[in-house]
Amino acid sequence: MHAIAENKSFLEKGAELLLLPVFQDEKPGAIAAKADSILGGVIAALSKKEFSGKPGTAVLLRGTGKLKRVLLFGLGKRPALNNDSLRQAGGRLAATAMALCVESVAFALPDKVDAAEATIAAVEGVMLGAYRFDKYFTDPEAKAKPVKSLAVIGGRTPKEKQALEYATIVSECSNFARELSNESGSNATPAVIARRMQEYCKVNSVSCRVLDAADAKKLGMGSFLSVAAGSVQPAKFVVMEYKGKGAKGKPIALVGKGITFDSGGISIKPSGNMDKMKHDKSGACAVVGAMAAVSRLKLPLHVVGVCPLSENLPSGSATKPGDIVKAMNGKTIEILNTDAEGRLVLADALAYAVEKFKPTAVIDIATLTGACFVALGDVRSGLMGNDDALQQKIMKAGEIEWERCWMMPMDADYDEKVKSTVADVKNIGGAMGDSGVMSGSSFLKLFVGETKWAHLDIAGTGWAEREKPYFSLGATGVGVRLFARMLKDWKG
Ligand code: BES
Ligand code: MN
Ligand code: ZN
Repeated sequence: MHAIAENKSFLEKGAELLLLPVFQDEKPGAIAAKADSILGGVIAALSKKEFSGKPGTAVLLRGTGKLKRVLLFGLGKRPALNNDSLRQAGGRLAATAMALCVESVAFALPDKVDAAEATIAAVEGVMLGAYRFDKYFTDPEAKAKPVKSLAVIGGRTPKEKQALEYATIVSECSNFARELSNESGSNATPAVIARRMQEYCKVNSVSCRVLDAADAKKLGMGSFLSVAAGSVQPAKFVVMEYKGKGAKGKPIALVGKGITFDSGGISIKPSGNMDKMKHDKSGACAVVGAMAAVSRLKLPLHVVGVCPLSENLPSGSATKPGDIVKAMNGKTIEILNTDAEGRLVLADALAYAVEKFKPTAVIDIATLTGACFVALGDVRSGLMGNDDALQQKIMKAGEIEWERCWMMPMDADYDEKVKSTVADVKNIGGAMGDSGVMSGSSFLKLFVGETKWAHLDIAGTGWAEREKPYFSLGATGVGVRLFARMLKDWKG
């Protein structure tokens, strides 16, 4: 989709479909007034019953002239406007365009808002909203009708043009992460995902190396390799690096869990909903999307991405509960549940990132625990870590981009729960299945040493099981927008 910044004279040329956001109990702003003069006053003539402006309500008007269709979208009352209102409006615009087979749309920004931030939200809403995972439909009718162009009407200052460029990049990179995560386990094996990551890195000027199982063995990654033991698909370990112009000091490391299919292994999962475990690679997908975004945005930073990729399957060669493995930092792990495999691949990936790159900060992102979904639902990702400033950066980026997080506790008491009787640590926590989110972080922190570290649990937010204003069912690409924003605003 091609997005361009326009000012209100654009309306004189007409539009196939124009979205006008309207605040409740307010007169339409300057752009809406201009549109209404072209339409002959139909908007002003609407009664409150016909269109109230309540949040999320919408009315589609048919014009007779060049302004063919206008979608009024209620933003609710101005003080209640949040960082997602315009993104949701964008999602509605995309959905309407696709339903009507309209290829070019326009989005009028409301008045008296930060035009650059509003532009970002609007573009993201339309571009994320227009994405469908439809490559496997053979019937052309079943495929989504693409939205080809988007005009954001508000202003054409350099700041707004830059905002438009930023949002285009992060939306495209988010949609790439979604496309990758939506692929099924057998179509997207570790080797396939590694290759697609490599190709994507190449076109986006990110350097990318793929280590194989033999390399991992040499490095002593016994924990990572134990997860792949039951699969005929060889594990892959992807290392990406971007060094922007002017980048100084140590890099920032992003680490993404990439389980291409999680059956649970010998501790096998119940079959209901097991198909969703194709999305267990969503953390890795977010990392490659973020790497590409950072490079395309030409941020003056040094960023590395590390993605351990493996299947988790049962077989005669699979790891068994009770097995003890050794991670590359020398720590021994008692595997009591082979379904707690995310932390096993992250143990080696975190240790590798820390040892190899000596980063100023390392952030992992993982569909780690069902417990996180129970705690926070599909609304916020769980956030843990050992450095308050780093967590605040993540929280802030999440609020702006509406990939919201919530900090979970890190009391030392939780560490007791992952103590093993036969090894340095065990891979599950509380005997009563309690505090599962925190057991994950108590385990992971053993593999980062003194490095500043944060952990994002996206088990609930990685994919949508209900339709959202700008998400169709399936992967959300969560993490790409958050990381891009955090890194754009990164200081020290
Ligand atoms: N990939 C799952 C976590 C998950 C579950 C993500 C549901 C999204 C939705 C992870 O590997 C897992 O199986 N975790 C176990 C951990 C337990 C055995 C300690 C879980 O959550 O049950
Ligand atoms: Mn699992
Ligand atoms: Zn998993």
